[in-house]
Amino acid sequence: MSKRWFQEHQRDTWRRQARSKGYRSRSAFKLKQIQDKFTLINEGDLVLDVGCHPGGWVQVSVEETGSNGLVIGIDLLACAPVDGAQLVIGDVADESSQDAILELLREGRKVDGSILPEIGVDETRLFNTIVSDISPRLTGQYDRDQAISLELVALVLDFTLPLLATGGSFVTKIFQGTGIEGVVNAAKQRFSRVQRFSPVASRKSSSEVFIVCKHKLLKPKKGSRGTTVSQELNSHLESKGIIQLNEPEPETEVKSGFRRVSKKE
Ligand SMILES: C[S@@+](CC[C@H](N)C(=O)[O-])C[C@H]1O[C@@H](n2cnc3c(N)ncnc32)[C@H](O)[C@@H]1O
Repeated sequence: MSKRWFQEHQRDTWRRQARSKGYRSRSAFKLKQIQDKFTLINEGDLVLDVGCHPGGWVQVSVEETGSNGLVIGIDLLACAPVDGAQLVIGDVADESSQDAILELLREGRKVDGSILPEIGVDETRLFNTIVSDISPRLTGQYDRDQAISLELVALVLDFTLPLLATGGSFVTKIFQGTGIEGVVNAAKQRFSRVQRFSPVASRKSSSEVFIVCKHKLLKPKKGSRGTTVSQELNSHLESKGIIQLNEPEPETEVKSGFRRVSKKE
């Protein structure tokens, strides 16, 4: 029995199971396995799902929060409605998408359709859990895809962490490889517990891993006050000699996923 045949067979098993249980993606099982191990979502929680299309993680989030919870999903692609959840089409890095998420959060429509108690005009209701299975459009060039995944995850952290309550949980997919430590270190500055986890439902051949962060701190640790995750990632990449920030001209571009990689002539 070839390894490839075995992997394909495993993949079909998850797909078949997803179909038989009514999940829109085999990825749904990844979140279920993360949830079994770390209990990121509790009943009645407010959950944001970043990169939610076609909706498998939204379905699992709705199940886990129950009728008293609130689930909002965002994706570049339109997602067919999921009972009880609210879906935003857009780029998580765009202000208009963030405004749309904030508006839904303020409105506070729960899974059962009822509305959470009103909050003051100057208050922001916050999420208890943010889950992100975000993935760039893959080019097939691993270095490039992995670099884009790192940047994307740093952006997601920067854009969504202000919406996560103190003590809240966060999980994101990321592609393993150069620079991942930069994101893990930045997460450790902001959460009391950070772990990498590979669910069984991830393909054996996959380079994806999930960074699971629990208990968001009231403030980032000292070294990270006033800096963003993206800035910390860039500093990490610079310290490893992977990118050079603010280097003088002239320079030639080196083929790589990182936009700012450059080499002196
Ligand atoms: C692997 S899929 C998510 C699958 C989903 N968790 C499920 O279970 O159905 C990754 C998604 O990330 C989305 N994505 C990538 N970049 C994004 C961005 N900047 N803003 C919002 N969504 C993004 C893609 O459109 C894609 O649908």
